[in-house]
Amino acid sequence: MELSVSPHANDFAAQVRGVQLSADLSGDLVEQLRALWHRYQVLYFPEQPLTHTQLEAFTRAFGAFGHNPYVRALNDHRHILEIRREPDEEVVPFGSSWHSDWSFQVRPPSATILHAKVVPPIGGDTHFVDGFRALETLPKDLLQQIEGRRSIHSARKSYSREAVQAGGQRTSMTIEPSNDAWQTQLHPIIRTHPDSGRQALWINPVYTIGIEGMREAESAELLTQLFDHMLQPALIYQHQWAENMLTMWDNRSVLHSAQGGYAGYQRIMHRTTVTGSIPV
Ligand code: SIN
Repeated sequence: MELSVSPHANDFAAQVRGVQLSADLSGDLVEQLRALWHRYQVLYFPEQPLTHTQLEAFTRAFGAFGHNPYVRALNDHRHILEIRREPDEEVVPFGSSWHSDWSFQVRPPSATILHAKVVPPIGGDTHFVDGFRALETLPKDLLQQIEGRRSIHSARKSYSREAVQAGGQRTSMTIEPSNDAWQTQLHPIIRTHPDSGRQALWINPVYTIGIEGMREAESAELLTQLFDHMLQPALIYQHQWAENMLTMWDNRSVLHSAQGGYAGYQRIMHRTTVTGSIPV
């Protein structure tokens, strides 16, 4: 079967058909998919029913599993997180603020893979920002302020005990807060993709809490300007789900945000990650 690839505007995100992800994928096919993933950053594959074991096998084809802290995984499938929201839940959807998955880790995941199990009839999209174009289109004065600089990442705003307690509302996911969330990690603001060599603007409003060597107010102001630039509609791809669709994205160049808009309906997704390298 030939792969059929339909890219979206600016070659950011592409639909892929002509492959059955539940099958044993040949090395050649995995390399083709990897090249497409690097090129389009977000790939989605409609109509891919998968068991837990098949989702794990697909993930492992791209590397070792990433480590998922703070959120309890499925029983018996410790690398699969269930992102679940029931019809009567009032808490904001998991992952609704813009972020790159686990960017506070020493080696944040290269890929996130999300498989749709139950999709609401309205809302529940996932939005993605193209970090390569964010850097390419960054005004020169902002670029000059970040070149060679590192930002500070931390999970404290989401997963410290204090943050989880302040959130307060019932969620059907089990969040496991920890004092580890107060740790910080420095990463370059301009990140070079380890495979393609392309450079991306690589900060996010959830986990990036400051800029190394800058006073708090100064770095907060600069980060706000950078986020305003990154989150402009021209850089965003709005992804709509269908049941059994699998989507994988490149955390080394992409931010994402889970949208709400489906109060009264259930949404269930299964998520895995592939381990990544130290950002440079
Ligand atoms: C996530 O942040 O990984 C969740 C995305 C989604 O549920 O759409």
